[in-house]
Amino acid sequence: MRIGILGTGSMAEALGGQWARAGHEILVGGRSAARAEALAGRIGARAGTLREAARFGDAALLALPYDAVLGVLADAGPLPDDRVLIDCTNAIGPGLALTTGEGPGAARLIAAATGARVVKAFNHVTPAVWARTPPVFADGPLTVPLCGDDEQALALVATLVKDMGCAPLVTGPLHRADLLESATAFLIGLWHAGQDPRTLLPPPAALGG
Ligand SMILES: NC(=O)c1ccc[n+]([C@@H]2O[C@H](COP(=O)([O-])OP(=O)(O)OC[C@H]3O[C@@H](n4cnc5c(N)ncnc54)[C@H](OP(=O)(O)O)[C@@H]3O)[C@@H](O)[C@H]2O)c1
Repeated sequence: MRIGILGTGSMAEALGGQWARAGHEILVGGRSAARAEALAGRIGARAGTLREAARFGDAALLALPYDAVLGVLADAGPLPDDRVLIDCTNAIGPGLALTTGEGPGAARLIAAATGARVVKAFNHVTPAVWARTPPVFADGPLTVPLCGDDEQALALVATLVKDMGCAPLVTGPLHRADLLESATAFLIGLWHAGQDPRTLLPPPAALGG
């Protein structure tokens, strides 16, 4: 596949590196041409502008702060028809509150602003996990929840998940991304407090009817 990556930071490097190693053609776009060139060199990709990355190939990863995404995409101009955007953002502010407030979450706001086929993915853990080769632990490959409204777009992102050694799990339509975004803020709070969220979860069979 051909994947555009908007951003030159940690998530861009971790995910772009995995996909480049898997043989995908990556174009990295950044607001700093020097940082885009440097990242492209590290992961074996091409460098370009944010506008080029937004329009490149089969899909584009939004590896930017949520607060920057809508402005960057507006500056990029009209996207190709049926554009697939992969939203890994966490719109989290002080006190781990969602900056998107009580209404639709980041993924739905991006979809509404662009008309693109948005898939929420990769937001629930850190770049250090995504950079592992592969992200496999004692219990097996890491499961990656995917939320989206378009079957083709979900299938495309599921392929990218499998190509990095993880297990995709379609968890519902894009409105479910609101819950994933809130759950991630909740998880981050536990991890920051030194807690292990896995201890909250009994085996499914123990839940009863
Ligand atoms: N880090 C995590 O643990 C983690 C985990 C899951 C999801 N995420 C989400 O993934 C996204 C990227 O996070 P990250 O950790 O990769 O961040 P990062 O390392 O700080 O990189 C952010 C990137 O966004 C660019 N950027 C910032 N403001 C911009 C603007 N106004 N216009 C254009 N580009 C701008 C930065 O460019 P410059 O280098 O020029 O500043 C940089 O390339 C965020 O939405 C974050 O919430 C992060």
